[in-house]
Amino acid sequence: MKIAFIGGGNMGEAMLAGILTKNLAAARDITVSDISEGRRQFLFQKYMAKVSSDNIQTITEKDIIILAIKPQILTNVMVELIGHLKPNQLVLSIIAGARINTLQHGLNHNAIVRSMPNTPAQIVEGVTVWTATKEVTDQQKKIVSAILGAMGKEFYVNEEHFLDMATAVSGSGPAYLFYFVEAMTNAAVKIGLPRDMAKEMVIGTVIGAGQLIKQSGKEPSELRRMVTSPRGTTAEAIRKFEESGFSDLVYQAVKAAYEKAQTLGNSQK
Ligand SMILES: NC(=O)c1ccc[n+]([C@@H]2O[C@H](COP(=O)([O-])OP(=O)(O)OC[C@H]3O[C@@H](n4cnc5c(N)ncnc54)[C@H](OP(=O)(O)O)[C@@H]3O)[C@@H](O)[C@H]2O)c1
Repeated sequence: MKIAFIGGGNMGEAMLAGILTKNLAAARDITVSDISEGRRQFLFQKYMAKVSSDNIQTITEKDIIILAIKPQILTNVMVELIGHLKPNQLVLSIIAGARINTLQHGLNHNAIVRSMPNTPAQIVEGVTVWTATKEVTDQQKKIVSAILGAMGKEFYVNEEHFLDMATAVSGSGPAYLFYFVEAMTNAAVKIGLPRDMAKEMVIGTVIGAGQLIKQSGKEPSELRRMVTSPRGTTAEAIRKFEESGFSDLVYQAVKAAYEKAQTLGNSQK
């Protein structure tokens, strides 16, 4: 299988690493095109993949073309690539907010996969939601599932509107949790803990709690009840969260991100 990357930044590298680790393609069959000479050198030295600064040459005779450039670069790249794609080539986009319709028209190409990964993909703990056009064959879908699965969990959805929802949940989700870690660390400092200690305690707690959800197989609500004894300290904190409308605040935040994802998608049409 021959693969082209247009853009070899953070996410492109995560996908490249996953593909090589899982032996889905050999380094000699992968070309990464990137505008930055520093990135090209780095990716060549670290992964032995071929590198190029020529997007058109890079996609020639490749089975899969992975678009991993920033959304604001997409229009220029599409103008460059239009007319150079063969119908049997698959375009796999990870670009946030780039609609299938935009990609099909911009590239004059039908076989498109649109996906939404998240940053933990960089440590193979990602969550990626993806969908495909009807021109994508079952065999190509299997390959996409393996490529995206090489970065963590992958979920296929058969309707594109789930992608905007995924953007607001799994795509932006890591930032919500980082924000919560910041807030909890600040709270710990305010009640008197030294900052270094507070940070380690909070990060350790978040990782431990996440692992417990994963390994115990129990519902998060059940795990919460297990540590919340009546009239105890945890109950006091949860009461404060509930009084302050925490669940509704989370809903409002996710909804705002979802609406923004829809607006961005519409503006790129
Ligand atoms: N990071 C995430 O959590 C996340 C999650 C889901 C989806 N995504 C999507 O993934 C895509 C890539 O994100 P990223 O964080 O990997 O971005 P990034 O680190 O900036 O990587 C993009 C790379 O493409 C290069 N580039 C710029 N113009 C180019 C061109 N015309 N041809 C070829 N390469 C070019 C950039 O070089 P320069 O730096 O020199 O411009 C950079 O090395 C984005 O569209 C984003 O929406 C990211």
